[in-house]
Amino acid sequence: MKLLIESSLIQFLDRLPESTLKAAALYAVKAGGKRFRPLVVLSLIESYGIDPLTYIDVATSIEMIHLYSLIHDDLPAMDDDGLRHGVPTIHKQFDEAMAILLGDGLLTNAFERVTESKQLQDHQKVKIIQLLANRAGLNGMVYGQLLDIEAEGKQADVEHLKLISRHKTGKLIEASFRMGAMIASPQDEERWGKIGLNLGLMFQIQDDVLEITATEKELQKSKSDVALNKATFVSQLGLKKAKAMIESIYEEVKKDLTTLNLKKPTIIELINKIYDRRY
Ligand code: IPE
Ligand code: IPE
Ligand code: MG
Ligand code: MG
Repeated sequence: MKLLIESSLIQFLDRLPESTLKAAALYAVKAGGKRFRPLVVLSLIESYGIDPLTYIDVATSIEMIHLYSLIHDDLPAMDDDGLRHGVPTIHKQFDEAMAILLGDGLLTNAFERVTESKQLQDHQKVKIIQLLANRAGLNGMVYGQLLDIEAEGKQADVEHLKLISRHKTGKLIEASFRMGAMIASPQDEERWGKIGLNLGLMFQIQDDVLEITATEKELQKSKSDVALNKATFVSQLGLKKAKAMIESIYEEVKKDLTTLNLKKPTIIELINKIYDRRY
């Protein structure tokens, strides 16, 4: 499935006219990534006994938004990181203008991707575009990025850390679960939304933990939290408490999952894999 997501992304970019921007886009996509967000959309659909293959293109829209968020997150004005997915970041390999433009383009074209779906009805497309715009935008992921930067060098209590993470990471992961539910089982969307937001928070705490416990080689990205004096779950609570939070969120998610009536365990297997992630 991961390979199909990647080939769908590359197919879309191949249509672009030859330019440095196209080269940068292909470089960014080919560098890799877990593709967690589109995998959530597709696994969730499959769990309801629906063939996910015809939804690959629409699922990749969320990966395009995620890629844009990483490219801008790495910029000198943000986290100023030089390594992502084991290769130099876009502004290092190309330049800052290219990184800004590529982010702008990936975000914008993500919405176009949704409109192109042959599988979705128009009313579904409108709802998905609204969902993506809301969770990515000024009161979603972007707001989280603002809070994250504003918290640099400051103390932050647990509630504030949760607020940052639910936005900068949680909102897009929540959107992935909601998108899958909108397609496969709209009556379950709220329940998946809650699970997604919780998993997004868990994902960010894991990210903070891995930043300390894993090596740059394992993570394939620069580790800048300490240098930038970031307020993270580990810097504010310590490793032990951060890990305990991961466990308690995972328990709550597992409990919520039992309330859903699924035909296949695909999405549960993916959630378990994320819980066990080492990079
Ligand atoms: C990294 O996300 C940034 C966060 C939101 C924590 P991922 O771990 O999903 O990024 P990939 O797998 O490298 O694309
Ligand atoms: C990234 O958060 C969140 C977004 C890109 C929205 P971080 O800055 O903590 O993640 P990494 O460590 O650069 O992947
Ligand atoms: Mg950041
Ligand atoms: Mg970063």
